[in-house]
Amino acid sequence: MDLITPLELASLDPVGQGAQKLVFRHPDDPRVLVKVINPRFIERHDRRDAFYKKRRRIGHNRAFAREMIEHLVVRALHPGRLASCPHIQNILGVVDTDMGAALLVEAVLDEHGDLAPTLRDLVETKRYGRREQEALETFLDWALTSTVLINDLSADNLAWHPDGHFVMIDGLGDRAGIPIRAVSPWLNRLYKRKKIRQLREEIARLRNDG
Ligand SMILES: Nc1ncnc2c1ncn2[C@@H]1O[C@H](COP(=O)(O)OP(=O)(O)OP(=O)(O)O)[C@@H](O)[C@H]1O
Ligand SMILES: [Mg+2]
Repeated sequence: MDLITPLELASLDPVGQGAQKLVFRHPDDPRVLVKVINPRFIERHDRRDAFYKKRRRIGHNRAFAREMIEHLVVRALHPGRLASCPHIQNILGVVDTDMGAALLVEAVLDEHGDLAPTLRDLVETKRYGRREQEALETFLDWALTSTVLINDLSADNLAWHPDGHFVMIDGLGDRAGIPIRAVSPWLNRLYKRKKIRQLREEIARLRNDG
């Protein structure tokens, strides 16, 4: 595989999309996803917030930095281990693409090799049963007790691994200007408790809507 030539993504269809990013399958390896900041998001954001464009050294790549730092935090908790924790998406690196810098991540795939369903998908299609609920509790126990920082614990940021566990694929790190939770385990836990409460409310809402 050529690791240096920039990847061509612009002519491909994204396989996933959130509010901020476009997600593509790696053209050479379907087990890998390539995440870029959606150019439309950048345009809209920069128009609204000139500060971002002019002053921020890191600009929109901040979204990648947040995820990478937490990934490295979790790795530091288990030095010497090959794979990082099963509960967060594995980050493989940063690469150049024709849509700007991109994060290479390991895809969570279902048993057919398609992108795994998110927790939201499971609830909406009535596949959120006892096994999935127990796995979510295991994930939430880990999320609360680990030192990891979380900012967006929504149902579409958790992917269901066919082995029977949830993987956080987005939403790590701290979005606050002054990242105080990184130095206060107490505040970090308090905030994560709130996020867990909100996730439970979201699941209840999705179930009622269905
Ligand atoms: N590692 C992964 N494995 C499987 N699917 C993934 C993975 N990463 C992302 N996806 C899919 O792509 C979608 C969008 O990815 P991601 O959440 O990273 O984008 P985003 O724009 O930052 O989302 P948000 O709207 O939460 O800000 C996810 O909801 C999921 O369906
Ligand atoms: Mg997301």
